[in-house]
Amino acid sequence: MKLTAQQLQDFDRDGYLFFPSLFSPDEMKVLLDQIPAIYSQHRPEIIREKDSDAVRTVFAGHLINEAFAKLGRHPRMIEPVAQVLGEDLYMHQFKINGKCAFDGDVWQWHQDYGTWRADDEMPQPRAMNVAVFLDEVNEFNGPLLFIPGSHKVGTLEASHDLATTSYPLWTIDNRTIEQLVERGGIVAPRGPAGSMLMFHSCLVHGSSSNMSPWNRTIIYLSLCAVSNHIRRFKRPEYIAHRDFTPIVALPDDCLTNAAVRITDLPLSKAA
Ligand code: SIN
Ligand code: MN
Repeated sequence: MKLTAQQLQDFDRDGYLFFPSLFSPDEMKVLLDQIPAIYSQHRPEIIREKDSDAVRTVFAGHLINEAFAKLGRHPRMIEPVAQVLGEDLYMHQFKINGKCAFDGDVWQWHQDYGTWRADDEMPQPRAMNVAVFLDEVNEFNGPLLFIPGSHKVGTLEASHDLATTSYPLWTIDNRTIEQLVERGGIVAPRGPAGSMLMFHSCLVHGSSSNMSPWNRTIIYLSLCAVSNHIRRFKRPEYIAHRDFTPIVALPDDCLTNAAVRITDLPLSKAA
C-alpha cells in the first residue's frame, strides 16, 4: 500500500493518518477469535488493570499467536511506515490494548518516543505506531485522543508516573497540554473495526477510561528503522525487542489465507 503525495503532506502537518475500514470484517474476525485464548493465559507479557482482572495490554502478541504474527508482517501496516521512514523496519514493540468494557483504564497524555528514548535509548524518533481497531471505536469506549501537529515540538519534558495505572508511563504535564491544545485542538479518530491509524512517535496522545459496555481492542505495531535500533536493554525483551532483523511483508491476503503459515513463534507455548 503506497501513500499518495497528499497523504504524505497531511502526515507531515498533522502527525497522523486515518484509514477507515482498511481491513475487512472477515480479517478482523480472524484476530478477534484468538483473543479469549490469549487473555485466559497468565504470563508476564499480559498486564491487567490496577483494580480488576481485565486485560490492559498484551505485549509481544506477534510472538505468542500465529494470527497476530501475520498482522505484524502485514503489507498494509508495514509498507506505509517503510515509505515514510525510507528504510527497512524491525518490531520495537507489539501491543494488544484491551480497553475492556467498564474496566478499561485511562492512558495519560504522553509521547511514545519519550519512553523509547528514556528507557531504551532509541537514538532518534525514527519509529512509528501503526494501529488497527479490532472493535468499533466510538465516542463512548475511550477513543485515542491526538493533538494534531504536536509531533513538531520534538521530545517534551516528561515525568515517570508509576501510580495512576497498572503500567508506568512517561507523562506530560497539564500546562504543556493546555498550550499544545490551544494551537492544535484535539481529535479522536473513530470508526468501524478494521480501521487503521498511523502516527508519529512524537505525537502527543492519550485516551480516557472506557465506562461503556463495549470493548475497545486496538493492536499497535511500533515499527523502528533498523539503523535506529535501541541501544539499552533495560526493559524486558517482550516490551522492547532486541531482534533487529528487517521485517519481510507477507502477501496481502495473509490473514484469511490458511496456506500462509508462521510456525516459529518463540512464545507460543501457553504459560
Ligand atoms: C498507548 O498510547 O500506548 C495506548 C493508548 C490507548 O490504547 O488508548
Ligand atoms: Mn502511546
